Amino acid sequence: MGKVKTLDDLRKLKDELKSKTSLRDKSEHPESMVQIKVAMATCCIASGSRETINYLADELEKRNIEAVVTQTGCMGYCYAEPTIEVTLPGKEPIIFGYVDEKKADEIIEKYIRNGELVEGIIPMNYKNIEDTTK
Ligand code: FES
Repeated sequence: MGKVKTLDDLRKLKDELKSKTSLRDKSEHPESMVQIKVAMATCCIASGSRETINYLADELEKRNIEAVVTQTGCMGYCYAEPTIEVTLPGKEPIIFGYVDEKKADEIIEKYIRNGELVEGIIPMNYKNIEDTTK
């Protein structure tokens, strides 16, 4: 799909992304798989997150890496869009910024496959709900 120019284009894009991610969403045990959240607010889309989520979904499948790829809203790191959160099984989530296709490829090959850290990690400045109740 080309550039988003109309509301219909945006709806088509939403449907396209929903169908691509819904199969992965249905996994019964997502915590045992690589989980990737891609920030997909309108600013993120304008910065290339649509290309990033499509690339991640396609490449993880091609490379036979079981992963759950979902979209989320703004994660608060707008300066570094496109941003993604990657959670390897049994590990804490890590946020990566400026994730274009080249960076996504590096994250797949180095971090997801081999657990090596790569440049572009953003320190997290939020807590999840479980952390705030302790
Ligand atoms: S609007 Fe895209 S990360 Fe904030």
